[in-house]
Amino acid sequence: METIHHEEHINNLPSNYDRQKELKAFDETKLGVKGLADSGSKTLPKIFIRPENELAQEHEIPCVNLQVPVISLQGIENKDVCNEIVKQVLHASEKWGFFQVVDHGIPFEVLEKMLQGIKLFHEQDEDAKKVLYSRDMMKPVAYGSNYDLYLSKAANWRDTLTIVNNTCPGFLDANEIPEICRDVMVDYINQVMKLGETLLELLSMGLGLEPSYLKEQMKCNQGWSMVNHYYPPCPAPELTLGTGKHSDPSFLTILLQDHIGGLQVLYENQWVNVEPINGAVVVNIGDNLQIISNDKLKSVFHRVTANVVGPRISSALFITGSQSSTKLYGPIKELVSQDRPPIYKEFTLGDFHNHFFNRPLNAPRFEHIKAEI
Ligand code: OGA
Ligand code: NI
Repeated sequence: METIHHEEHINNLPSNYDRQKELKAFDETKLGVKGLADSGSKTLPKIFIRPENELAQEHEIPCVNLQVPVISLQGIENKDVCNEIVKQVLHASEKWGFFQVVDHGIPFEVLEKMLQGIKLFHEQDEDAKKVLYSRDMMKPVAYGSNYDLYLSKAANWRDTLTIVNNTCPGFLDANEIPEICRDVMVDYINQVMKLGETLLELLSMGLGLEPSYLKEQMKCNQGWSMVNHYYPPCPAPELTLGTGKHSDPSFLTILLQDHIGGLQVLYENQWVNVEPINGAVVVNIGDNLQIISNDKLKSVFHRVTANVVGPRISSALFITGSQSSTKLYGPIKELVSQDRPPIYKEFTLGDFHNHFFNRPLNAPRFEHIKAEI
């Protein structure tokens, strides 16, 4: 993996001046990628084109016909069924870091309306969106494109409406959510947070801890954020990405995607498509859960391809814990032993968060908190 140092080197090349200017011009339109797509241009602006070495490697990583595990929560109230589900969740989280959940109890209409609400937000009048345009990732509500625009080597082909709930104690004021999607989002968030708690209980049990252990550790209803993406149709999808390769800076992520597809997970060095399943949600382990599980659970690289068709809509809810808490996190004591010494140092969630947002999305992840062995 290339280092930040190398990046500085590239930024010093003479051609860089134009790139910075183009990035700024794009940023200042406040219209995001959708603004470009709407202008009808048939060519992909240069700022979105991935570096040549990355594009060249692409051919070495074939997509294979594998599928991330699909887990049904049907009958979870029955003890034997629940134990079986715990096994499946643990296995998927150790091996894939990703799984899809069906029969989760969130009504189909709630999911559909949520996707529709995100679409309505991004497709509304430009002026209504422009006033929400911001690069400040701590704002409770912000619309933007490419939070790492000035850090990355290639911009991604997507726009995002971000909602952050990081007030401690307390909750986001729902009235701050844009009216055009407010009610459906509040409804979805309430239901998906409950599912998040259930999943944390299943994971706690899988790790041999009290069912409430992880939930209490991260006070999940106090610290979460949600990114609601809009991936417009792209004139040259083979040259760019919808979302670059990354892992999530969360404990747990619950993702809702529409029927278009494009999400891929890196599994045994191959990109595997996460096939859209009507009514399912996609769940993945985030960096923080990998760290506190002392590498038992895996936070896996994933990305989203750009697509000629679209738009593609998705929503990722990150259960992050409270960024403002001074609590120290590190490998869970019950999960370390002489044979399995702690792989990581202790850290605060605020520091972890700041580290994440001061680097490009695809840079090294948590090497900075590796324990010295
Ligand atoms: C993310 C993410 C995937 C998608 O926002 O972290 O991985 O399908 N999104 O949009
Ligand atoms: Ni992600």
